[in-house]
Amino acid sequence: MSRLQFRSDRLDRLGSAIFAEVSGWKQQAIGKGLSVINLDIGSPDQPPVESLRAALADACLRPDLYRYPGTEGTLTFRQTVAKWFYHRFQVELDPRTEVLSLMGTQDGLAHLPLAISNPGDAALLPDPGYPVYGAGLAVAGVEAIPLPLLEENGYLPDFEAIPQSVWDKVKFMILNYPSNPLSATADLDFFERAVYTARKHGVLLVHDNAYSEMAFDGIRPPSVLEIPNASDIAIEFHSLSKSYHLAGTRLGFAVGNREVLTSLRALKNNIDFGVFLGAQEAGIAALEMDIHAPKPIAGLYEGRRNVFVRALREQGWIVPSPQATMFLWAAVPEGWSSRAFSQSLLTSTGVASIPGNAFGQLGEGYVRLALVEHEDLLLEAARRIGHFIRTAQPSK
Ligand SMILES: Cc1ncc(COP(=O)(O)O)c(C=O)c1O
Repeated sequence: MSRLQFRSDRLDRLGSAIFAEVSGWKQQAIGKGLSVINLDIGSPDQPPVESLRAALADACLRPDLYRYPGTEGTLTFRQTVAKWFYHRFQVELDPRTEVLSLMGTQDGLAHLPLAISNPGDAALLPDPGYPVYGAGLAVAGVEAIPLPLLEENGYLPDFEAIPQSVWDKVKFMILNYPSNPLSATADLDFFERAVYTARKHGVLLVHDNAYSEMAFDGIRPPSVLEIPNASDIAIEFHSLSKSYHLAGTRLGFAVGNREVLTSLRALKNNIDFGVFLGAQEAGIAALEMDIHAPKPIAGLYEGRRNVFVRALREQGWIVPSPQATMFLWAAVPEGWSSRAFSQSLLTSTGVASIPGNAFGQLGEGYVRLALVEHEDLLLEAARRIGHFIRTAQPSK
């Protein structure tokens, strides 16, 4: 028997086990002959508009776009980002020092802790929150301190409730509005308080704004950089994945504090050589479209939300109506744990969801359903969920 083991202990701290488990439950459902309705992973089910596919196709035919791209992104890409940012948020950015291209925000979020902190440092991260925040900290050996987000506070943190001893050891704090999985939004007043708090305690504010263009009911999510001089203590991540349905192209960017961006770029210089130049061309084409170009995409999810929420309520499950993102975050019916509800729902009806505790301890008691299927399948899912809730025996 070989004594070699090709799996690091680090992998066990990444928290992705539940997603693998959900795939196992899916296999069980398929084995029983059920048709699965995939409302688990938040991967857009639609392609980008044809003009963007054409821009990418044209770029792929250009012989000059196949060299190593360079970690920071082309100057043209960064200038286009700066122009878009000004148009969208009325915030001026220096494209040479305050913009960094990324292979999706995931790239930046996962690598940031390695670039700016040392083992033993600590960071505040949203609970419930998007799992890569914790994974990035685990890889870097940074202590994760949960920032509680409670329904009664509109899922906004209560900064005053965090003890001084925690602030003393925290190096950075991650926020995410509009939020995955909570679908909560935050306004400029909140970001003003967040910037004030970060300044007061000398911590870096890291804002994940991956869903900036995906809000409903007339809401226009702000940027943290709209707060005057916020780039002294803040950076923000943006993504083209959801706003333009370019998830597979792997394209995003970080903006804000230049010292932090310089560190992130220095780390990434050792890991990758930047985003494929063809993808950057597609990104330029996207960001040069009308500033309201992402509206139809947000409208698609808003329409699905309307249909799904209404159908679930008609089935007797009174769920909240999310005002942003592609997710529905709902309390599981009385008597269930998150995991038991999600597992039992999938293995007995074929409707796949993610148990809320996959996103942190405070996610227990909730489930996340992604609006990534057509309206007719969402109606079918609601029908199956309704029958399940009326007939299944709750278990913990
Ligand atoms: C909150 C949040 N941040 C970041 C990401 C990663 O997006 P990408 O790497 O495609 O930009 C996602 C993807 O679902 C997300 O939900």
